[in-house]
Amino acid sequence: MTAGPDWRALNRANWDERVAVHLKAPGYDLAPLRAGHGKLNPIEEAELGEVAGLEVLHLQCHFGADTLSLAQRGARVTGLDFSEPAIAAARALAGELRLADQARFVCADLYDAPAAIGRPGAFDLVYVTWGATCWLPDIRRWAAIVAQFLKPGGRLYYADHHPTAFVFDDGTKLPDGRPGYFVPYFHREAVVLTESTDYADPQAHLANATSVSWMHSLSDIVSGLIDAGLSLDRLHEHAHVPWRMFQLLVEREDGDWYWPDKPWLPLALSLQATKR
Ligand SMILES: C[S@@+](CC[C@H](N)C(=O)[O-])C[C@H]1O[C@@H](n2cnc3c(N)ncnc32)[C@H](O)[C@@H]1O
Repeated sequence: MTAGPDWRALNRANWDERVAVHLKAPGYDLAPLRAGHGKLNPIEEAELGEVAGLEVLHLQCHFGADTLSLAQRGARVTGLDFSEPAIAAARALAGELRLADQARFVCADLYDAPAAIGRPGAFDLVYVTWGATCWLPDIRRWAAIVAQFLKPGGRLYYADHHPTAFVFDDGTKLPDGRPGYFVPYFHREAVVLTESTDYADPQAHLANATSVSWMHSLSDIVSGLIDAGLSLDRLHEHAHVPWRMFQLLVEREDGDWYWPDKPWLPLALSLQATKR
């Protein structure tokens, strides 16, 4: 793993710009949240279980839509993100939804979370979903941070793209439309990409188009968590994902995106792990 060129500044500028785009994007429908019953995606809805009464830490919470959905279900939530516009939007949304007493938002880099939040061992649930860990160079340090926030017996819920799917990309498309090879599975260097489009709004054109991300293999994620003091309870692979990861995927009624013909590769990964 190498950290790559100014990764934090490039990624923060990229994510800062996406906040305004996402607040109006078709891919982020805030109507259910504003109606008092925010929805999560099908995978975590099926797997997460009750959160009422839990102390929840949502890492890389973006503008807080999922954080506030968890608050609407009765959790006391803390959301963390390094984007100031994201945290400002999350706080405004919490005020609008009258959830400010239950939801606290902290603006800090993930690796500064222990100092920014304090409260080691205070959380029943650490919640990390969709497009989170690929922005972090050091997955073992991430796992140690997750572990230090959990109470003994507290759990991590994690759902994200499957690392196998990160190997492929539409930029290297095969003649039949399937995505082609993009990043080797065992690549540990930074992946620098300049792409002005946005996954949630096909009309958007980003000025801060360069981002830096990392491939984290399944064993790096799982071993990182085990070595940090968590026990793996469940690990699921899914042939669908909440966004149009590849152009040829098709949307089904549940809102997730599926392979059109055969389930060629896992697209998403979810796991639960408990602090020993
Ligand atoms: C795809 S979004 C995650 C969306 C999330 N699933 C949600 O609840 O809406 C990725 C988020 O990670 C944040 N992020 C990226 N790198 C970060 C870092 N080093 N520290 C903290 N937040 C970071 C971005 O600002 C962005 O809000």
